[in-house]
Amino acid sequence: MTTAVPSAAVRPSTGTDPLALIDVDHVRFYVGNAKQSAFFYASAFGFQVDQICDLTTGSRESAQYLLTQGNIRFVLETPLTKEHPAADEIRRFGDGIKDIAFTVFDAEAAWKQAVRNGGTSAYEPVTRSDASGSVTMAGIRTYGRAVHTFVSRTGAYALPDIKQGATFMPGYRAFGDFALNAHNRANPCGLKFVDHAVGNVEEGRMNQWVSWYENVLGFSMFKHFDDKDISTEYSALMSKVMASGNQLIKFPINEPAAGKKKSQILEYLEWHDMTPGVQHLALRTDDELASVAALRRRGVDFLTIPETYYESVWARVDSMLRQHGHAAVKEDHQRIRDLGILVDADDEGYLLQLFSKPLQDRPTLFFEIICRRGSQSFGKGNFKALFESLEIEQGRRGNL
Ligand code: FE2
Repeated sequence: MTTAVPSAAVRPSTGTDPLALIDVDHVRFYVGNAKQSAFFYASAFGFQVDQICDLTTGSRESAQYLLTQGNIRFVLETPLTKEHPAADEIRRFGDGIKDIAFTVFDAEAAWKQAVRNGGTSAYEPVTRSDASGSVTMAGIRTYGRAVHTFVSRTGAYALPDIKQGATFMPGYRAFGDFALNAHNRANPCGLKFVDHAVGNVEEGRMNQWVSWYENVLGFSMFKHFDDKDISTEYSALMSKVMASGNQLIKFPINEPAAGKKKSQILEYLEWHDMTPGVQHLALRTDDELASVAALRRRGVDFLTIPETYYESVWARVDSMLRQHGHAAVKEDHQRIRDLGILVDADDEGYLLQLFSKPLQDRPTLFFEIICRRGSQSFGKGNFKALFESLEIEQGRRGNL
């Protein structure tokens, strides 16, 4: 697979699966203060604060900020009234991801098909339109508090236009002059698109959600790890990875497994009102070293990997790559170590990855910065080092 994301394809002939996904339309966060969150994601991760929908555009229920970078679109939404559903969710969960929305050809048809397949509606189709075109959205509920919205777009709101900076949907306007936008254009972080989104679900429920992605959205199993792969002395988890038909996006699903101490998944759930949700979003870059260096300069707080990791990583990775006839890791080994980046290899190639600490005060949502050089897996060889590092952090939070 190349790093390119499929762009808006031609409309398929009738009879094609209405659930065929064109792209990740956007990721919606519910946050306590979108104005301040927009500054954080712009300053720390290099996003453009591109558009806004708030009181000044006639939106009296919530304020929404559209942040963009590469083919990534975040909507940061904050409630303006106590009646808005986000108000109660923020009280229960703190800031986090509410919705991973997919662009489809016909949102209403996709929503109907998903409900026929056994999905539960989150909300019925709504269309916003004006003289320029229209945007239709309809949502289904996935694990816990999370939703998948189907989005279909016409006229000036078509996806290729959105990617070129057109108005996101009726009700939005350009954010206007903002000093950080100019700084970010001159100092890019190189984040291209959403590679995967990981859900944490309750113990014993992973297989149920795997079936849900198969039955409701037509996804299929991509990879499978068990607690032998992902365990340390103290904590463990199990994970299965679901992929959309075109492998546009992958959804690993984690559940806690028994260990001597508290699993990182259980820690997440305990700070998330014992409700499943998105644990991390992996953002793809073509140049891990440049992206991580830029993010570190901006003050992004990454997990620290024990020094001993680098004593064995090259032997492990090089032998795997040699065994399968792939070229060795081309990036400078000392710089990888200096930047604290993790490396893993499988039969298809290698990947570079690094994980941020939580993005808010609660130990819930975090980001992964990932670069793939052939490998389509998720860094299984790094799980042990990673979990040891996470346990040190859990211990510091008094959550182990
Ligand atoms: Fe990941």
